Amino acid sequence: MCGIVGYVGRQPAARILVDGLKRLEYRGYDSAGIALVEGGALVVRRAPGKLRDLERVLEQDPPGDSRQGIGHTRWATHGRPCEENAHPHRGPDGRIVLVHNGIIENYLELKHELRDRGHEFASETDSEVIAHLVASELAEAGSLTEAVRRAAGRLDGNYAICVMDARQPEQIVGARRGAPLIAGLGEGENFLASDLTAILPHTRRVIFLDDGQIATVTPERVDVIDAEGQPVSAEEKSIAWDPIAAEKGGYRHFMLKEIFEQPRSVQETLAGRISLDRGEVMFAREEFPLEDADLARIDRVALVSCGTSWHASLVGKFLIETLARIPAEVDYASEFRYRDPLVDDRLLMTIVTQSGETADTLAALREAQRRGARSVAICNVMGSTATREAEGTILTHCGPEIGVASTKAFTAQLVALYLMALRIGAARGVLGADEVREHLTALAQAPGRIERALEAEPQVAALAREFKDATDFLYLGRGINYPIALEGALKLKEISYIHAEGYPAGEMKHGPIALIDETLPVVSLAPADAVFEKMISNIEEVRARGGRLIVVTTEDAPSLDDKVDRTLRVPKVPPLIQPIVNVVPLQLLAYHIALLRGCDVDQPRNLAKSVTVE
Ligand code: AGP
Repeated sequence: MCGIVGYVGRQPAARILVDGLKRLEYRGYDSAGIALVEGGALVVRRAPGKLRDLERVLEQDPPGDSRQGIGHTRWATHGRPCEENAHPHRGPDGRIVLVHNGIIENYLELKHELRDRGHEFASETDSEVIAHLVASELAEAGSLTEAVRRAAGRLDGNYAICVMDARQPEQIVGARRGAPLIAGLGEGENFLASDLTAILPHTRRVIFLDDGQIATVTPERVDVIDAEGQPVSAEEKSIAWDPIAAEKGGYRHFMLKEIFEQPRSVQETLAGRISLDRGEVMFAREEFPLEDADLARIDRVALVSCGTSWHASLVGKFLIETLARIPAEVDYASEFRYRDPLVDDRLLMTIVTQSGETADTLAALREAQRRGARSVAICNVMGSTATREAEGTILTHCGPEIGVASTKAFTAQLVALYLMALRIGAARGVLGADEVREHLTALAQAPGRIERALEAEPQVAALAREFKDATDFLYLGRGINYPIALEGALKLKEISYIHAEGYPAGEMKHGPIALIDETLPVVSLAPADAVFEKMISNIEEVRARGGRLIVVTTEDAPSLDDKVDRTLRVPKVPPLIQPIVNVVPLQLLAYHIALLRGCDVDQPRNLAKSVTVE
């Protein structure tokens, strides 16, 4: 929900911190701030609004060239987005300063305890309480690291923090529980950040901190201890990601770039995992340690996730039940965890999550594991919490997805789910090598089909001009394309702020048909498949009531010009792959409408890329 960074080394920290926050701004952008340690004193600059507002403050009131600092970009959880609530937050004595990502659930209790001890608070935030708590531990603890360790032990909830003491120069202490924190290892300089995109321009050597761990970072070293204060030999990893991948690459927005990256991200997600000559799906053992014997024992799959990843899970249900012939139940993560779910050791708990840090999804995973389920994460971020807590991981190799509206991760999730369904079907003996080979051959052609669907962008942009002023949209689909109707509606609503609803087409006559009139655009997904005629009936029902019809159909379908206002055609692919292609024009439609409405496409209001709080 927020982005935090820390730097200590040989370069002026302010610029490095602001550049790092720019790469994290998609995680939250209500306010931003940095703090430096200069000559035994704290220098703090904060601003409500976007990062450019903080940059303006820094130009007007330069913070100096200290080589040590921390920074924060905020998605408000406690307290309005304003200067007082912006991070960094200070302790009572001008020594301690801190930035925090997460939610502290017992902050009021701690705040009252500290108030009773004479502490006064300047903000409404839970984060400021942590700064005061660290300060209150400092005298007895003897070091900042020990003070942070003791304070962290008092916290309920989740946190990733960077803390500095003005009297302990050249040192930052980082700690995490339930929110991500990564240390970057440079030459004579070291970094802390919420995710890789803020570290990669400086170094590819990283340490992914685990829950409960505390890192003491100086220009020369990063030392890690556990919650009990015992040293930990944290594993250093080298990241292959290309830092340029986290740039816009000439596109106007990250979202548009990521829509056009889908042929490659689907290709990358398939690469190395399909053997056409053997008719097999192969997952790297270190990623996916579940053997065929484990998969053969599975008698049920739970697909648990949030938002767009939940829509991918709905498609996954069709894939698993069609290919593996076992029941697949789809759940919102926020519902699953509180529902006393039926779980046993023959359930494969599959979480689908782009970020790997979504609090509800991680909590659902932990609940299922506690009840004995096997577990897999379909995730786009190597080293994220989900990939470290699930038994197996199927990475979607999309590279960083920066746009808050998920696009390339979604189609890659569909591919990963398809591969997993094939793998389980083969392990259960319900799919032979020839059938697997046939599916893999079709999947291998998906990148080219997406490429062709992207060619319709000019037509979609024209549609956007025609429909940009609508106040409501209805998206209809059937079967495996019903989740794509939901996804198209979510894309539109989250970046253009137009109310949009996805619905099973067959359900329209049971309520939503009352909405139909000449002001309501209805987007119908009608590929030439087994339910095409049914979709045509629904289109007729809409037309009879004056609705404005946009249909997404396949190149081989008959003309529908006498029934609809606008037609978008996409390549015809096998039914289980059609959703991957059908979603492309809907992503582009949402993008172009939002653009025409002057919305902030990459950082839509009220949203954040990774919802690391409940
Ligand atoms: C998607 O466009 C949204 N930004 C949001 O619904 C997102 O899919 C959801 O928050 C889940 O995120 P995750 O995949 O990182 O878990």
